[in-house]
Amino acid sequence: MNLAQNFGHPAAERALLMTKNDSKQRSIESFSKVGDAYVKSETHAKGDDLARLIAIANPQKSWEALDVATGGGHTALALSAYVKKVVATDITPNMLASAEQFVRNQKNVTNIEFKHADAEDLPFEDKTFDLVTCRIAPHHFPECQKFVNEAYRVLRPSGLFVMQDQVLPKNRAAGRLIDDFEQLRDPAHNRAYSEDEWCEMFRSAGFIIEHTECLTKRHEFDKWARRVVDSDAVVQNLIQMVKKAPVEMIDWLAPLPDVASFHLPGSSFINHHLIIAGRK
Ligand SMILES: C[S@@+](CC[C@H](N)C(=O)[O-])C[C@H]1O[C@@H](n2cnc3c(N)ncnc32)[C@H](O)[C@@H]1O
Repeated sequence: MNLAQNFGHPAAERALLMTKNDSKQRSIESFSKVGDAYVKSETHAKGDDLARLIAIANPQKSWEALDVATGGGHTALALSAYVKKVVATDITPNMLASAEQFVRNQKNVTNIEFKHADAEDLPFEDKTFDLVTCRIAPHHFPECQKFVNEAYRVLRPSGLFVMQDQVLPKNRAAGRLIDDFEQLRDPAHNRAYSEDEWCEMFRSAGFIIEHTECLTKRHEFDKWARRVVDSDAVVQNLIQMVKKAPVEMIDWLAPLPDVASFHLPGSSFINHHLIIAGRK
């Protein structure tokens, strides 16, 4: 039994039983309700991580780029200033509509197209793009290797794939607990991976890994939880999960002000991210 089951969250329990298609449907249902929240989310709109992703991609004026699982459209928008064209895709039609509306409200941005697409089955010809990006989304995909293979397929020779997502600690038991915590908050969270697992997926698709970089994002707990959760009971269960967590999980989450006071307003924790760039 995992921690999500321990805390009796029926949605999380259902999530554990999901088939792969159910998992995608769960993502669509979950993100359909929160499109505007993601457009406004500071975690997604701002932050050093987005600037780092763009710097690592080193986008060029002649490039055609694909942004997979664009969410609120922030990565696509940031890229659009540097490239010829960006195709922004997402599996959730409502999310794509929110992103499109957000981008259409920006002045002088005319080079972003929007297309409905499943990351694991991209509706593009082989060798279509110079750059593929995907930021803070693969933990939702049920078959991540398929997605990495698709990124490889749609890239032109020498094209670059830059991916950023939550990353798990090397310690697998601690990693499973972090996944349980994330899944209790968001049943559309499928699973995250360690840096080693990401490197293995990239190599197995055929990429040469050019860069890996880990960074942290500190989240104010209440804002983070309530962007997705509308139940006070689930928020309380998340707090209890932190309070009862083993030392490996506490070391990873680094809660502030401290574990015992984690219920207080303004409490925060760390989310670890990996940026990885692979060359075709
Ligand atoms: C956290 S948001 C992405 C944030 C965004 N990339 C950014 O930089 O701000 C996660 C997105 O993944 C999308 N998603 C989930 N599963 C997907 C799949 N299989 N294919 C494509 N998009 C998917 C969701 O619809 C949601 O819009």
